[in-house]
Amino acid sequence: MKPKILIVDDEKPLRDTLARWFKAKYECLLAPDAAEAMKIVRENPDLALMISDVRMPGENGVELVRKAKAANPSMACILLTAYGTVDLAVEAMKDGADDFFQKPITDLEQFELRVAKAIKTASLEKEVASLKSRLNEKLENFTGKSPAMEKVYALIRKAAPTSANVLIEGPSGTGKELVARALHDLSTRARGPFIAVECAALSSTLLESELFGHEKWAFTDAKTQKIGRFEAADGGTIFLDEISEIDASTQVKLLRVLETKTFQRVGGTEDIKADIRIIAATNRDLRGYVEEGKFREDLYYRLNVIDIRLPALKDRPGDIALLVSRFLREFGEQNGGRVTGIDMKALKALEDYSWPGNVRQLRNIIEKMVVLASGEKLSIDDVPEEIISAAPRTAETAAVPVRTAATTLAEAEKAQILAAIAAHNGNKSRAAEALGISRRTMHRKLNEWNMK
Ligand SMILES: Nc1ncnc2c1ncn2[C@@H]1O[C@H](COP(=O)(O)OP(=O)(O)OP(=O)(O)O)[C@@H](O)[C@H]1O
Ligand SMILES: [Mg+2]
Repeated sequence: MKPKILIVDDEKPLRDTLARWFKAKYECLLAPDAAEAMKIVRENPDLALMISDVRMPGENGVELVRKAKAANPSMACILLTAYGTVDLAVEAMKDGADDFFQKPITDLEQFELRVAKAIKTASLEKEVASLKSRLNEKLENFTGKSPAMEKVYALIRKAAPTSANVLIEGPSGTGKELVARALHDLSTRARGPFIAVECAALSSTLLESELFGHEKWAFTDAKTQKIGRFEAADGGTIFLDEISEIDASTQVKLLRVLETKTFQRVGGTEDIKADIRIIAATNRDLRGYVEEGKFREDLYYRLNVIDIRLPALKDRPGDIALLVSRFLREFGEQNGGRVTGIDMKALKALEDYSWPGNVRQLRNIIEKMVVLASGEKLSIDDVPEEIISAAPRTAETAAVPVRTAATTLAEAEKAQILAAIAAHNGNKSRAAEALGISRRTMHRKLNEWNMK
């Protein structure tokens, strides 16, 4: 599509000459005066440039530029000056004119270059302005002023406009997907697709055909050809969530995509090219997986060009109040604006909790509290029992015996019983009594564990 330009001059012959000259490259709209020009400016928000005479009957060109720029700031403006109006044109450049050109126009080629330059500059400025405003808009999806989060924002700003692969690490519910979307939305690929793949949800054969697609009859159930997520993400971003869970054979295929930017459909032989940015996320210690030989080191380095680590909520307790107030506003509005605040005691209880489910858990709890609240202000009575009864973070380890990351209920029970027996110098009866269980139960348990 040709860019649109508007030519404003009271002399018809000049309008026609310019229109004839420019029509090969531009769609030309014409106006004899400022009033008519403003109508066209309002009706055509996609105008790339306006050329206007300075001296015209009615409103002059300088006035017109001021109004037209107010109506459409991203449009470029060039003024045509006759003898005696140059000073006016110079003045107009303060009000938004981008350039001026002296009449009579003897060198149309020269004039055309100036027109092209003004359009290019204006469109670049527009692009920069929109990227900047999107940047702030997208980062508004994040709440938190802790140094750890500031570091995350800085990395997003830096990484987003590039095509570098990013690995996002952090515990569950800390905002990994939010970061992935922000990286996409703030990149030059923002208009392309954002495709998320939950790697852990699919078996390895399914995952491969999901990612790379398959040819007809690649396997028994493949009744038609299928386009994979990589092909679908062409020109955009693919988000591989829970990347630690992909198996060895898929890791090899993924590495090949990263190295060659090509892949083949399952059962296919054709190399398919795709222009994709890869963002991966994990809530595991992927470095540890590499050391244990569960994840390929070469793949790890390819994915990890930029590493963004999200802090657990308990490591940034100062952000809890900010998040609470944000979610209060969100859910307060959704629930008819009845609940508008939280009292200090209730907030303190939330700040003291350890939030194993991080921001997602906090968000869910606030929603629940708002829905169930009795008054306008959330109070300690609205805080769920599980949060109050949990030991405060500072005393977390005091009352609990042996506790490891992988503690199941059965393991905890075993540890507790053995600890009690040890504490009573091997006297099982007294240990059972202290634990509040019968001697019979204790013996049955020890039997189960072959520890009689
Ligand atoms: N800094 C933040 N500010 C506001 N909301 C946030 C922030 N971080 C996360 N959230 C919100 O918390 C919820 C969980 O975030 P998200 O889904 O991005 O987490 P995740 O790290 O991908 O979790 P998982 O590992 O479980 O997939 C979302 O509703 C998200 O909008
Ligand atoms: Mg997620």
